[in-house]
Amino acid sequence: MSDTINFIIDGVEIQGREGQTILEAAEAAGIYIPRLCHLKGLTPHGSCRVCTVLVNGRPQASCTQPVAEGIVVESESERVQQIRRDIIDMLFVEGNHFCMFCEKSGNCELQAMAYRFGIPTPKFPYQFPKRGVDASHPDIFVDHNRCILCGRCVRASRDLDGKHVFDFVDRGPHKRVAVNAEARLADTNLDASDKATEVCPVGAILRKRVGYAVPVGKRLYDEKPIGSDIEAAKTK
Ligand code: FES
Repeated sequence: MSDTINFIIDGVEIQGREGQTILEAAEAAGIYIPRLCHLKGLTPHGSCRVCTVLVNGRPQASCTQPVAEGIVVESESERVQQIRRDIIDMLFVEGNHFCMFCEKSGNCELQAMAYRFGIPTPKFPYQFPKRGVDASHPDIFVDHNRCILCGRCVRASRDLDGKHVFDFVDRGPHKRVAVNAEARLADTNLDASDKATEVCPVGAILRKRVGYAVPVGKRLYDEKPIGSDIEAAKTK
């Protein structure tokens, strides 16, 4: 019996496989669905909602929603784009993101997403939360001001490094990433070669002593928009 699953994205017939998510099946067909908390190789988390699509008219996170026979998915409609724009706006205002002073500028997926969606400045009021910086570790520093709670570091440390250095604590607006030590990152067993240090989509976890090795203007998303590698695969 074939495990092919036929469904539609934006009017195009797509074949997925049993067990694939909508995001994975779309990507295999060369259709990019924007995402922030999702990263290939990590367990899907479904927390940022940037990958929202309408499935038979209902909003769903495409990174966790499995494909199903005959579903009709909207990903590029103006309604979906507006949902994503609002989510990206909210991610900017609920943290402290000063791109012009951030070492991640040009490599930051949140910044790249704002460019992709044509967001020059957020429409919601800035919250300017008071958050800390942990520079205690000899090789890595954590700036909670830029954290978007995507949980990539939590999942990478737990599932790829087998360490559980990071985890979420508190709830609602007080939710934050904490380290598995009394107080400081330096008291954990985090190593600079850990996967958890590589996966942050923003500038919340950065390596020390390598800043600006690649000049601003020559970085990943300075060269090409986020998602363009997947979209280019479709046109080949
Ligand atoms: Fe799907 Fe974040 S990428 S919820």
